[in-house]
Formats: sequence, C-alpha cells, structure tokens
Amino acid sequence: MTVPIAIIGAGIAGLSAAGALVAAGQRVHVFEKSKGPGGRMASKRSDAGSLDLGAQYFTARDRRFVAQLQQWQAQGCVGEWTPTLYQSRGGQLSPSPDEQTRWVGVPRMSALTRAMIDDFPAVYSCRVTEVFRGKHYWHLLDAEGASHGPFSHVVCAVPAPQAAALLSAAPKLAAVAAGVKMDPTWAVALGFDMPLDTRLQGCFVQDSPLDWLARDRSKPGRESDLDTWVLHATSEWSRQHIDLSREAVVEHLHGAFAELIGCAVPAPSFSLAHRWLYARPASSHEWGALADADLGLYICGDWCLSGRVEGAWLSGQEAARRLLEHLE
Ligand code: FAD
Ligand code: NAI
Repeated sequence: MTVPIAIIGAGIAGLSAAGALVAAGQRVHVFEKSKGPGGRMASKRSDAGSLDLGAQYFTARDRRFVAQLQQWQAQGCVGEWTPTLYQSRGGQLSPSPDEQTRWVGVPRMSALTRAMIDDFPAVYSCRVTEVFRGKHYWHLLDAEGASHGPFSHVVCAVPAPQAAALLSAAPKLAAVAAGVKMDPTWAVALGFDMPLDTRLQGCFVQDSPLDWLARDRSKPGRESDLDTWVLHATSEWSRQHIDLSREAVVEHLHGAFAELIGCAVPAPSFSLAHRWLYARPASSHEWGALADADLGLYICGDWCLSGRVEGAWLSGQEAARRLLEHLE
C-alpha cells in the first residue's frame, strides 16, 4: 500500500485538497483539532436550533467552484438564500437589494463540509503540535504526545498564525505564514420568542460596532421555534474587545442591534457569543497555495487567496494540483 498524505485541518480548504487527492488515486489521512469538520463553516447546535456563527453564505464566481456547487446541489446539501437585504450607514437603514446569487449549506452551513469528508480516514479532537521529517517520511505529533505517520507529504490547511507555528521544518514557508495578519470577529446569536417586526433578513453595516447581521431562520431548511439572528462585530471592535466576557459582548452587540434595526427589540430568550480569533486575513493574496515541493510540504487556506469560502476551496484545489504535479 502507498504511504498516505497527511491533511492538517478539516475546514473547506483541507477537505477540498483531500477530495482532489483521493480523486487522483492518493490516500489521505485528515487530522482536526475540533470535534467535527467545518472550521469557520461550522454550525453550532444550540437550544435555538443549529446556528451559522461563522460563514453566513457564499458566492460562486470561479467555474471550478461552480462545478463543486453543482455536486452539492446533486447531494441536496446546498440551497439558495434570497434574503431581503438592507444596509446601514451612519445609523440610516435602507433596503439594498441586488442581483447577487448567495448560497448556504442546508439544513446548516456545516452540511457542506460533512458531505465533503466522505469516508476519508479522519481523526477529530486531535491538535497537531509538530510536523517533522524522518529519514524518508513525515510524522506528526499531537497535543496528547501521540505520534502519527509515516506520511509521504503533508498538506497544512489551517489559519496562517497556526500554520506558522507548525512549519519549523520549513522556515521560509513559516516566515511567509507568520507575515499574514488575521483579524478576529466576535459573533453573537440571539433568539426571540416573538418575531421582530421587520422585513430585514440580512444587513451590511457601516459606522457601528456591527459589520453584518442576518436572520438565521430566513435561510432554507432552518428550524427553530425562536426568531434567531446572528450578529458579527467589525474586526476593529472585535480586536478592541478581544478579552471581554461573553456576557458583556452579548450586551454590547444586542444594544448596537437594537439601535440600528428600527423596531422594538426585547430581551432575547436565547443568546450566545463566539470569538473567532483568526476570522479573516487582513488582506487578500494571490498565492493560490504555498509549497516546498522538494520537502513535500504544502499549505493552503482562505488566506492564500481571498478570505472567503470560495477562496479557501480554490486554495485546497491548488495545493492538491501542485502536489500531484510534483509526483509525475
Ligand atoms: P478553517 O475553516 O479555519 O479550517 C481550518 C481547520 O483547521 C479548522 O477546522 C481548525 O479547527 C483546524 N486546525 C487548526 N489548527 C489545527 C491543528 N494544529 N491541528 C489540527 N487541526 C487544526 N466567507 C464567505 O465566503 N462568506 C461569508 O459570509 C463569510 N462569513 C464569515 C464570517 C465569520 C465570522 C468568519 C469567521 C468567517 C467568514 N467567512 C465567510 C470566511 C470563511 O468562513 C473562510 O474563508 C473559510 O471557511 C476558511 O476555510 P479554511 O479551510 O481555509 O480554514
Ligand atoms: P458579497 O458579494 O455578498 O459581498 C461582498 C461585499 O460587498 C460585502 O461585504 C458588502 O460590503 C458589499 N455588498 C454586497 N452586496 C451588498 C448589498 N446588497 N448592499 C450593500 N453592500 C453590499 O459576498 P462575497 O464577495 O462572497 O463576500 C463574502 C462575505 O463574507 C462578505 O460580506 C465578507 O465581509 C464576509 N466575511 C466575513 C468575515 C468575518 O470574519 N466576519 C470573514 C470573511 C468574509
């Protein structure tokens, strides 16, 4: 049997790379520190139903990603979301319809990465702490001190600061990853017993601690007894309040929401806050993927392209393409 390829990170970039490698006849083994796949496309199961706390929707502009979208459509795990869109500027709320097609996982965002994981061998709750090369092959060490391997190649598909920490075997790649700044996002979910008296289902916000808000229940396939909303703070507000307690974050962002939404907002019967430390790259890049092909080390993730779902998926494809090209 051939020696497998290790994939670190079961977000969409890692799973995109894994899928392309398996389709080309390679064996892969996925390592993920969380309890399941999804990363920043994960959905939180809660008393108010499943909530998309990270990626809210995605657009598909590249024809290769459109092909992936069609595959998800055939699998029944994606749906079009057509929110009544608004924007808020200087405290002024106004309708902001457009022609853009927006997609979401159904019945939750994480359905997409669940569909992608297929039957790849994957280990969850396994945080990789070291990537090192023996005489011929790669090995991984995890936070419990267990070692995994051998692997012919390693694809590292984690946010840039976390990649930098894993790449001591390739100092040049580590330096590139260490130079990428990623901004945080505080996310808050609120659930109301009675529907709020507004038509708004999604809103792009400026001049506020908030950056975005969405009526989660307006997405296809969501089921909740409550009128559920997801609020995202701006990078700047999130950075300034990075160590605030979850309760205080809920209070602040609920206040900002009540101020801009233009209807009565009662106390929510459900609330939670989630801090994404590495939510988005501060700027986009055009690397596709990074590699030290002679070492057999490949790096992908949204930060190698645009910090979006589509960019992450394309970056995974590019890492796989470069790896396969080097095998020929
Ligand atoms: P990730 O999803 O971060 O995956 C990396 C995985 O690696 C994670 O599962 C992590 O647990 C794992 N990992 C990390 N370190 C280790 C380790 N040492 N060992 C093992 N596993 C490890 N994009 C859009 O297109 N539209 C949106 O509306 C949108 N909204 C967003 C809102 C928020 C709040 C956030 C945070 C992101 C949003 N994005 C959006 C961006 C989108 O979610 C990301 O671009 C995309 O999901 C990134 O995928 P990825 O695979 O590169 O990284
Ligand atoms: P898109 O085309 O819907 O949005 C891109 C940007 O265009 C929006 O951020 C917004 O500023 C503007 N925009 C689009 N439609 C608008 C409208 N009808 N009215 C007013 N402004 C409008 O989607 P795309 O390009 O796929 O981007 C993904 C989204 O994911 C963006 O909104 C981005 O901000 C968000 N994102 C959030 C992250 C976070 O951490 N909070 C991380 C990464 C992406």
